[in-house]
Amino acid sequence: MRTQVAIIGAGPSGLLLSQLLHLKGIDCVVLEQRSPDYVLSRIRAGVLEQGMVHMLEQAGVSGRMHKEGLPHDGFTISVGDTRLRIDLKGLTGGSNVMVYGQTEVTRDLMDAHTARGAKVIYEAANVQPHDFDTASPRVTYQKDGVTHEIACDFICGCDGYHGVSRASVPQGAITEYEKVYPFGWLGILSYVKPVDHELIYSNHARGFALASMRSHTLSRYYIQVPLSDKAEAWSDQAIWDELKIRLGEEAAAKMETGPSIEKSIAPLRSFVAEPLRFGRMMLAGDAGHIVPPTGAKGLNLAASDIHYLSEALIEFYGEKSEAGIDDYSRKALARIWKAERFSWWMTSLLHQFPELGPFNARMQLADMDYLAHSHAAQVSLAENYVGLPF
Ligand code: FAD
Ligand code: DHB
Repeated sequence: MRTQVAIIGAGPSGLLLSQLLHLKGIDCVVLEQRSPDYVLSRIRAGVLEQGMVHMLEQAGVSGRMHKEGLPHDGFTISVGDTRLRIDLKGLTGGSNVMVYGQTEVTRDLMDAHTARGAKVIYEAANVQPHDFDTASPRVTYQKDGVTHEIACDFICGCDGYHGVSRASVPQGAITEYEKVYPFGWLGILSYVKPVDHELIYSNHARGFALASMRSHTLSRYYIQVPLSDKAEAWSDQAIWDELKIRLGEEAAAKMETGPSIEKSIAPLRSFVAEPLRFGRMMLAGDAGHIVPPTGAKGLNLAASDIHYLSEALIEFYGEKSEAGIDDYSRKALARIWKAERFSWWMTSLLHQFPELGPFNARMQLADMDYLAHSHAAQVSLAENYVGLPF
């Protein structure tokens, strides 16, 4: 088989890229190692920046998001005894975010692919990129025990942190920067009414807690837990009890509780690979970088990579120019590092780090006191939360 762009991974990065390229008449094949149901069963991000909302509009997959998504104009942040509402709309001159789950974004993209009969090959085993340092790259994979080969112009590695694309780059050609945090987030999804109409991020003496949502009837909560904890060892009741303590009395009094429909622990990591282009292979999304979830940047960063990458490929095919491809890594990394900085800062402010001692704890309080009394600091938080421009 031959295609113009072979995309490895059918997560939000791969599907959004394929959709945007298709709209410009560029032929793609997407290879995914899992089944569609498995991809949709992963409960992940929930907050979309305006830039990502615009990209979904551009991709023609925003109908359900505009009907069912919840625009949020602010959120609450609480550290020690200080509680503060961040008025995103007022502080940014009109910007906000959209609460709409990654699962729903992926489902909308999958439906668009099905409707146009796009080439997405699920349950492709042993996917392997080859010859990306030449003008004739190839991707091989196995399906139902048969080996197949796709010849292409470009390979796009959209296969997440554990994918094969970054792992196929020779070690000397890539530099990796990493920070691993000494805790994880235990997440719970439950069909209960959200505790507030906006998100609440809280740094309590017992650890971080976040009250989020997917809809008016579906809530998503997280708490900071030691990495050694096992999700199964946390009963639903123990999680609700902990949330009530960490989110404070006002939230506790209003909190509806119920059985969990998903419960899992995610580790927290900051990671950047440089560069993101290796000849005819480009990395995008989690394949190239990871942020800790505090601040909700992971999915949004994947979308901004796809913005730069789709423009570069459209320029290549439309204008026979490699300028965009040559500049992809630099442009994407400039925005990635700023989102890394913001996610690291939000994580540093909002979690308990007993190993860093009392000085660090006082710095968190000073940081929060500054935020509560400085319009400039609030503007900075708000402009990063709604998303820096592409
Ligand atoms: P992925 O969503 O990881 O998609 C990659 C795809 O590639 C997958 O479908 C995978 O099956 C496929 N793949 C992998 N290897 C291969 C291979 N060898 N061959 C073929 N296919 C392959 N972000 C937030 O903003 N907020 C959150 O609360 C949040 N929670 C998260 C919780 C978890 C457990 C994880 C892992 C991430 C979370 N994120 C969160 C981050 C966010 O979900 C990611 O940034 C986003 O999914 C990135 O999209 P992607 O398409 O680049 O990668
Ligand atoms: C969610 C996750 C985040 O990391 C965040 O900052 C806000 C919301 C969520 O899953 O709803």
